[in-house]
Amino acid sequence: MSEPLPSFLGFPDWAPERLLDVVDLAADLKGGRARGHLGGRVVVLYFMNPSLRTRASLEAGVARLGGSTVTLDAGAGGVWGLEHEDGVPMLGGPAEHVREAARVLSRYGDAIGVRAFARFKRWEEDRSEPLLRAFARHATVPVFSLEGSCRHPLQGLADALTLRERLGDPRGKKLVLTWAPHPKPLPMAVPNSVVEAGALLGMRVTVARPPEFGLDPEIMAAARALARARGGDVEETDDRAAALAGAEVVYAKSWGALGCYGDVEQEAIARARAGARWTVRPADLEPAGGPSDQPGAGALFMHCLPVRRNVVVEDAVLDGPRSVVVQQAENRMWTAQALLLRLLGGGVARPAARPDDGPLYA
Ligand code: CP
Repeated sequence: MSEPLPSFLGFPDWAPERLLDVVDLAADLKGGRARGHLGGRVVVLYFMNPSLRTRASLEAGVARLGGSTVTLDAGAGGVWGLEHEDGVPMLGGPAEHVREAARVLSRYGDAIGVRAFARFKRWEEDRSEPLLRAFARHATVPVFSLEGSCRHPLQGLADALTLRERLGDPRGKKLVLTWAPHPKPLPMAVPNSVVEAGALLGMRVTVARPPEFGLDPEIMAAARALARARGGDVEETDDRAAALAGAEVVYAKSWGALGCYGDVEQEAIARARAGARWTVRPADLEPAGGPSDQPGAGALFMHCLPVRRNVVVEDAVLDGPRSVVVQQAENRMWTAQALLLRLLGGGVARPAARPDDGPLYA
């Protein structure tokens, strides 16, 4: 067993070398070149919001490492909702304060994962990950994000693994994160983490979005600095066609407009103005110069899921040969395992197995 690492609420919490080490370990676990064990450790998973992949990948991944999970769902019929602000009279919905909850859960588990989406009132508040930071302040065990109000680092790690698997060395390759239509305003956690994952890998990341949908300038500037230090770059544009030209990867995601954050009516107007021309269609993946019969020609399609078919992306793309969305989802489990092994100082053995023996968990 190695020394445990501190909490992990987003890529900026850990040095790039540590993040890349997690991706490397995930690849080795998946390829059967490493075997991990958590030695009976217990991981508490606290969900303020619904989930399929995050929940199932953590529960399956921890079980396969010989640990166990306690999954708590806040809300009707589940555990108490939590207040995170200090010094306020608790007369509203939440019946419990994170000060007690974090310390109590630390007595039961060896790490606590928390999912708490954006509240969509003030961006300044959401960008600071208030509930996750409160958990990390008061817990006495490591806390990690299951998707916060500003970042989804587990998705970023899985996407980094997928990009490496598909592109080989991703450095200098073009990743286009394109805004997509959606019937509701969505958080910016995934897009921020996609940009950070591309930057970590030294890719040329282009964020294509309607004018009102620029991402947080400070987060983009930090990602640009990281990308440049690693041989890549980050830019934003509202010229969708120019952005898609020469893309090796098209990653679609919808997110809300910063300029009218929390204003549901203005947000809806901005989304309607952008319109369906931002839906990803087969032609968007075609290589420069038009359709090709070459196997592998054109861009890969990525999405974190869940996805609204024929709103965000047409069926023909999602069901087509360039779509890697299920591989991304599978990689959520391998990267979650690698993260927890590092976070908890779990054991990693490198058996003298032949790499082509397949996964050791089979
Ligand atoms: N991508 C992702 O986090 O999926 P879930 O919301 O289903 O966990």
